[in-house]
Amino acid sequence: MAYAQKALVITDIGQPVVLVHDHAIPEPGPNQVQIKVTVAGLNPHDGKSRDAGLFISQSLPAVLANDVVGKVVKVGQGVAGITIGDRIVSQAVFAPGSLQNGLQEYALAAVGSMAKVPDSITDDEAATLPTNIIAPLVALFKVLEIPAPWSPTAEDFDYVNASILIVGGGSNCGKFSVQLAKLAGIGRIIVVGGNESELNGFGATHVIDRHAGYDVVLGRVREMVGDDLIYAFDSVNPPDGQILALNALSSHKRGTLARLLPLGPIDESKVLGKKAGFDVRNVFGSSQVHPELAGPFWERVPEYLEAGKLKSLPYVVKHGLEAGYVNEVLDAYRDGNSVFKTHIHL
Ligand SMILES: NC(=O)c1ccc[n+]([C@@H]2O[C@H](COP(=O)([O-])OP(=O)(O)OC[C@H]3O[C@@H](n4cnc5c(N)ncnc54)[C@H](OP(=O)(O)O)[C@@H]3O)[C@@H](O)[C@H]2O)c1
Repeated sequence: MAYAQKALVITDIGQPVVLVHDHAIPEPGPNQVQIKVTVAGLNPHDGKSRDAGLFISQSLPAVLANDVVGKVVKVGQGVAGITIGDRIVSQAVFAPGSLQNGLQEYALAAVGSMAKVPDSITDDEAATLPTNIIAPLVALFKVLEIPAPWSPTAEDFDYVNASILIVGGGSNCGKFSVQLAKLAGIGRIIVVGGNESELNGFGATHVIDRHAGYDVVLGRVREMVGDDLIYAFDSVNPPDGQILALNALSSHKRGTLARLLPLGPIDESKVLGKKAGFDVRNVFGSSQVHPELAGPFWERVPEYLEAGKLKSLPYVVKHGLEAGYVNEVLDAYRDGNSVFKTHIHL
């Protein structure tokens, strides 16, 4: 490593992010590029990193933000199809000592977890993707075992007659899960929560108001899928959302709920009549942990964005590498306040 750069870092778990001027600039190794960061996007897990040490407790000082966009300034060995000056969107690795995170002037990005940003897409639009699309990508095409649309087994899978229930359609992960289900061609995409017209625009076939009451919501889902549902994804994971999803699953076919946060055991006394049993599986939405799925996906991201098959999500912008902005957003996540996805422009 050489030279020094400005970065926002965590030096002590539980303490605010602080600005430093002497953070080392990482040099790209094989299959990596160095980018000058233009946008760093924040997400709920960044608050958990700052406040509880998630992913970073073994490697302080640490830089946050796994949604990263920037311009390539150096290209490492073995990187094909990317040259200096290209704009790149990257999902930084969730691991101690990551050199890929966005709240620093220069970061690394790696083959298998990055894509070129097409000319028609802005840096901010691209920055809405990484964390919130890889989680549902893994949920649908790995954890629930629906074949990814480009995989060899896709040919034999009956997408049109498949149904999926997505709970938490108002979340960013929920919105991207709808887009991915549509991209795969799943025939019935039933969503609980979120804005109906927005979700219909992403491909939802049915949107149910999550405030309609548990029995009403469950009744409406079951009216649509009968007793045949085997795929459910909870992208927000309150206990009642998970129980709803499990009770919507078929009683005579073994179904699966994929959920984003490992929240401990389900209260099975509230899950009724599952003669064939059911599975609850946790999702870790990391490109690096699922290279066989994420690699081919990132290769296709430019084409999907250009064709409008993937659409960016809303965001707000804060200008400058200012600790105050970042701490405010992370405080809001911590306090359970409603947070608009925030992009820091470097
Ligand atoms: N495991 C992983 O790999 C992974 C990856 C990414 C995110 N996550 C986690 O997944 C969760 C979602 O992240 P996100 O960034 O997508 O969240 P987000 O966009 O901040 O989600 C907020 C929205 O969720 C909806 N919501 C809130 N409470 C709800 C409830 N009780 N039931 C259903 N919907 C509710 C609300 O929308 P409406 O009011 O419009 O319904 C709210 O605006 C976070 O906890 C995050 O840490 C995990």
